[in-house]
Amino acid sequence: MLREGRLGGEVDPEFARYTSSIAFDAHLLEYDLLGSMAHAIMLGRRGIADEEDVRSILRGLLEIYRKRDLKLEHELEDVHLAVEKRLFQEIGGAAGKLHTARSRNDQVALDLRMLARDRIIRVSKALLHLLEVLLSLAEKNVRTLMPGYTHLQRAQPTTLAHHLLAHFWALLRDLERLQNAYARVNLSPLGACALAGTGFEIDRRLVAELLGFDGVVENSQDAVASRDFLLEPMAALALLAVNLSRIAEELILWSTTEFGFLELSDELSSTSSIMPQKKNPDALEIMRARCARAMGNLTSGLAIMKALPLAYNRDLQELSPIALDSFEVVESSASILARILSTSGFNRERMRSACEDFLTATELADYLVREKGLTFREAHRIVGRLVASALKARVSVAEVTPEMLSRAAQEVTGSPLELGEQELRRCLSPEESLLSRRSEGSPSPEAVERSLQRARQALEELSALVEKRERRVREAFKSLLEEVERLVG
Ligand code: ARG
Repeated sequence: MLREGRLGGEVDPEFARYTSSIAFDAHLLEYDLLGSMAHAIMLGRRGIADEEDVRSILRGLLEIYRKRDLKLEHELEDVHLAVEKRLFQEIGGAAGKLHTARSRNDQVALDLRMLARDRIIRVSKALLHLLEVLLSLAEKNVRTLMPGYTHLQRAQPTTLAHHLLAHFWALLRDLERLQNAYARVNLSPLGACALAGTGFEIDRRLVAELLGFDGVVENSQDAVASRDFLLEPMAALALLAVNLSRIAEELILWSTTEFGFLELSDELSSTSSIMPQKKNPDALEIMRARCARAMGNLTSGLAIMKALPLAYNRDLQELSPIALDSFEVVESSASILARILSTSGFNRERMRSACEDFLTATELADYLVREKGLTFREAHRIVGRLVASALKARVSVAEVTPEMLSRAAQEVTGSPLELGEQELRRCLSPEESLLSRRSEGSPSPEAVERSLQRARQALEELSALVEKRERRVREAFKSLLEEVERLVG
């Protein structure tokens, strides 16, 4: 369609296949049509195209929009030309007026921004659901004791609620990052044309308004040359993928016989083709691996952009499918993770008994500081010595005696230490330890209840924001289509 002017002759089929974006462009078709409708309405209102032409352009676009049977062929290069060609078939010569004061450069930037904002909403909704699952599991497990870990070694008692909330807050930040990015994504580039705007008296803000954007991209070169509206969400998605992958890794560990904290549901597990006893966490393993793609995609995207001179370069086309891949990987992972978490069984007895492993040693040391006037370093050495001697004598934490503690103190400081049996048992009890951890953000049920309230509120606020944004776009499209129908008659 474009080749009869400057180029003459047919395009080489291998060149066409190599350079075409048509396979990916199926994802842009709907946005391209809506964008064209808004542009045509604006051309009409501004008197750039006459009413009659605008009416037939809109009639043609509406027809293509309703039928959704557009053939996307490589020879057509991209969706923008495919739509234009089809429009010619529908309405004839007037189709040639649609591209007035527009370029494929601002057109593709527009389509991609519409895609990105939709995908941000979609992935945010999947994430909101996952956050809800984490929060309601936490609400039910405020007193479920389990070991907290450092170096993957049992460290101090915490609760399942507190552990799940740690993931909750990390994922909530990811959601905030995506929503922050949305404000910069939701601006219209249309009207930038090839790079330097246009001499026609267009109304960029009208087009932006019709399509549900919050404003326009200020500079026309920036509007067609930048893709940080993809890279920024991709960066947020890469961070989110890291967090999803860490959760996947933990659940894999927890489902092992060695941990025994978690039993995956049968319908979300696999088995072995040879070992009849096996139950495998395949979805979590796939997630752990697939999340790597979000990181690789970001790196590829940054590398594509880093040496591009202004303004449009065809290189930009290579970023689009990569960006979409990041959205899809993360959305599907968040969604299945929510299902895995809500259908798994937690083994509370195993978690509790894993706390019987000198996890309260810090508690005992703290007690000696508070009640016996020792420095923390002295107390640390005494309790360390006590644990070493207990392990050597194969004495469990429940069997440790005040005499053993006194002997340890004697060895370390040269003086014995008086502590009653009751006192010692209380210091070493995981339940007692938990109750004492009341500082803000700690695992005591009291502190966790406060945290749960803040979590619930933050979740509600973000959920309302996502919903509001989704509604705004949906309503803009609805009014746009109504306006088109009204004009077409
Ligand atoms: N498929 C192209 C892309 O994704 C559309 C814009 C083409 N513009 C051009 N000057 N060739 O970037």
